[in-house]
Amino acid sequence: MRHLIDPMDLSVQEIDHLLEVADDIIANPVKYRDVCKYKKLATLFFEPSTRTRLSFEAAMMELGGNVLGFSSANSSSAAKGESVADTIRTVGCYADIIAMRHPKEGAPTVAVQYANVPIINAGDGGHNHPTQTLTDLLTIHREKGRLNNLTVGFCGDLKFGRTVHSLIKALTRYENITFIMISPEELEIPEYIKKDVFEKNGIPFRQVRTMEEVMPELDVLYMTRVQRERFFNEADYIRLKDTYILDMDKLTTAKKDLSILHPLPRVNEISVKVDDDPRACYFRQALNGKYIRMALIMELLGVSADEN
Ligand code: NCD
Repeated sequence: MRHLIDPMDLSVQEIDHLLEVADDIIANPVKYRDVCKYKKLATLFFEPSTRTRLSFEAAMMELGGNVLGFSSANSSSAAKGESVADTIRTVGCYADIIAMRHPKEGAPTVAVQYANVPIINAGDGGHNHPTQTLTDLLTIHREKGRLNNLTVGFCGDLKFGRTVHSLIKALTRYENITFIMISPEELEIPEYIKKDVFEKNGIPFRQVRTMEEVMPELDVLYMTRVQRERFFNEADYIRLKDTYILDMDKLTTAKKDLSILHPLPRVNEISVKVDDDPRACYFRQALNGKYIRMALIMELLGVSADEN
């Protein structure tokens, strides 16, 4: 049985396959509409979500399956003190596959020890978010036509942003990626990403403090929200939250074919005026999230459209 906890649980070949399936789903949705008939996906969200949970549910529905679950810890037995282990054992009695989001790093790793069905990590604290990474890779591939030879700028909260950590890990396996980290000192990527991901693999990265100084170089700009819920105190959040605001002025020096990604939700780090620029990919990215999750659910359940 396969689970998806960390983006590195998938090989590059497996990721390529998922991207191909997602592209095929986009081109031929009808072919896939019954592949998960009579199967159930449970979404266990102990933390808020809009895109991840709803795109998982829409994905399962578009595959002909059903969904069940909860959208906050308060509405589950976690509020009564139930452990993740017991919740997972229970939900495994009702569902064929589980997507879970939890505020504690490592909670999905605990879950797999008690699971009798595949577990998908839909975000664990400030750690990983592998299905967002698949969404990001599909988006970059569809926008740029490649996943190599790219200069990628990550901007904002690189310390607590789990989507950043997961995407960096995944991108280190592609050829000739130039990594540029744009953040204030307090929100730099964690030490483990510097040491275990970049230095260990001999991959250089640059750290800068403004987006203006690197804008002309970028092929992809990955914007992120300052992760208020992971700060120890509100004063630090207020001081740092408006460090970067991408607006049309800042884009004047950008490449004509820059791709601006954001996992969303946006607070105010991208001016809404940017939304109408063709370089803004973030709503297409949100749509891609549904298709790649369809591909992933099929893969983990071991079903394919060809068998039907
Ligand atoms: C992200 C997350 O939950 O980490 N959202 C998402 O899943 N699209 C990013 C964020 O919350 O800032």
